[in-house]
Amino acid sequence: MCGIVGYIGSKQACPILIKGLRRLEYRGYDSAGVSMINDRGELNVFKAKGKVDDLVAFLDDKDVSGTIGIAHTRWATHGVPCRENAHPHYSSSGTLSLIHNGIIENYASLKEKLIEHGYTFVSETDTEVLVQLIEYYKITYQLDLLSAVQRALAQVIGAYAIAVLDRSNPDEIIAARKSSPLAIGLGDGEFFLASDATPLVEYTHKVIYVDDDEIAVINRHSGVNIVTLQGQSVSPEVSEVTLDLGAIEKGGYEHFMLKEIFEQPECILNSMRGRINPDGTNVHLSSVIDYGDKFINARRYVIVACGTSWHAGLIGKSLIENFCRIPVEVAYASEFRYNDPVIGEGDVVIAISQSGETADTLAAIELARSRGAFVYGIVNSVGSSIARCTHTGSYIHVGPEIGVASTKAFTGQVTVLTMLALCIAKERNTITEEQLHEALQELLRIPDKMREVLKQNDAIASLSRTFTYAHNFIYLGRGYNYPVALEGALKLKEISYIHAEGYPAAEMKHGPIALIDAEMPVVVVATNKALYEKVLSNIQEIKARQGRVIAVVVKGDDTISKLVDYVIELPETADFLYPLLASVPLQLLAYHIAVCKGKNVDQPRNLAKSVTVE
Ligand code: M6R
Repeated sequence: MCGIVGYIGSKQACPILIKGLRRLEYRGYDSAGVSMINDRGELNVFKAKGKVDDLVAFLDDKDVSGTIGIAHTRWATHGVPCRENAHPHYSSSGTLSLIHNGIIENYASLKEKLIEHGYTFVSETDTEVLVQLIEYYKITYQLDLLSAVQRALAQVIGAYAIAVLDRSNPDEIIAARKSSPLAIGLGDGEFFLASDATPLVEYTHKVIYVDDDEIAVINRHSGVNIVTLQGQSVSPEVSEVTLDLGAIEKGGYEHFMLKEIFEQPECILNSMRGRINPDGTNVHLSSVIDYGDKFINARRYVIVACGTSWHAGLIGKSLIENFCRIPVEVAYASEFRYNDPVIGEGDVVIAISQSGETADTLAAIELARSRGAFVYGIVNSVGSSIARCTHTGSYIHVGPEIGVASTKAFTGQVTVLTMLALCIAKERNTITEEQLHEALQELLRIPDKMREVLKQNDAIASLSRTFTYAHNFIYLGRGYNYPVALEGALKLKEISYIHAEGYPAAEMKHGPIALIDAEMPVVVVATNKALYEKVLSNIQEIKARQGRVIAVVVKGDDTISKLVDYVIELPETADFLYPLLASVPLQLLAYHIAVCKGKNVDQPRNLAKSVTVE
């Protein structure tokens, strides 16, 4: 989704802004732009459709000087991706430039009023309406920029993170936030602005996260001053960001996605660090310790999430129901928020999100809280909005995930959900001590077993070449492996643009089997001990119709291996832990197919890493 960068200090702004935009590329975008005030007091705006490289090429013969500037990557919502619609946008008089993440919902009525006042527009965007509105208040009521921004934002319905430059004040950037993330980096005599901490960490580790309905005045001389929309002063909390630069670079891998797939054994260890005793005899999550009563005596859990995090939630449901014997519902956050859900005191809502900024998940949390539910978050991005608006939570600690297709966040989420289920089960006495030790000790073995799986990377790469012809894929799994099938299908769709569907294996005969022919690749996750015979029958049904089967099996499974076209072997583990192993080859399969097809795996078309609009 859109990315914001800003700089004010003694250095040339443009190179810092461009580097910042590159750091935010992972969020997904279709055009980019910069705006600087140069030493002659001119406010320049330069924009290009396409990638940051296209913008850099466009800047080649332009005056990009200036020690104050703002920059943006746009993910189109209002109007097609093109130079006119790209940000920053000028105000009519050319004295202001503005960048914006989010959506101004009432932009049409605001635009109508501005047109009545004689304003004209060069883009189709809601953002241009906002910059004109600020200028309207500034000129009409002779206001300074801060007061004009306050007046304008009071009229706005929607979500925004904005940054504004004013030609008449080359010492100040004004930024504001509502439901769209914004971080200010505090350097030595210089200040940075960004949608998240990734562009900031090479300059500073001191960050202020702007809160909803707050406006930040960032002044070259006097520093950062935060006020509310109503003008009350706020003392900002300065956080220390621990993110290191290596974690947001590719480290020798061809793509972030591949790097992140290979990082998973280490990530999972990080998720478990300090939470499981090294000998696997105990597990503790501080949230469950601090709010034991809420978790143990909950009448019901409701998991809310989107996309891959929702798939992790489905695995969480099986884990919590099986180990804790508490009913669990899993809802798409986007549906939950509009379904008038039956939710209230006694319910525990588990919100799962990698980015911690997903608009639908945030809205679902707010709704659940307003109805008295207790909300626990499972989040990756430290200090993100979801991390801050839940009652309590557990970070998954897998480090920044840059590839748009989520990989290590998924396995990190499943790891935390596994620990959560075991932790609650221990407290509720729904698991024996012996079972708990066995489960934890096996969980501790997963990183090594995952390393074994990753050794098949080359074999999976060569198998992937066979399937670049395919226009469709089916993924099947049962029990714990059903969400793995859904997630495998989502990965393939997202980065290779091949249509793929995941089903519970036994559902196939109720419809999807009609699709099977010699052209149809079917990926079957067939590791379940309990349902082995059933999955075997499903595979036989596919082979009887000439389908091409890639089976993910437990090492040494000669029966299925003889029956299918391709086999990927996993080390043996407990049924409830197979998702952590089985998702890895499916990530690799999607990755290699997309690479063979020449797709941009890290920034697939139309997708955004952090979905901050509805
Ligand atoms: O940041 P979140 O986990 O809240 O994001 C939810 C989805 O947007 C996300 O999982 C999306 O489906 C990914 N592109 C999956 O690879």
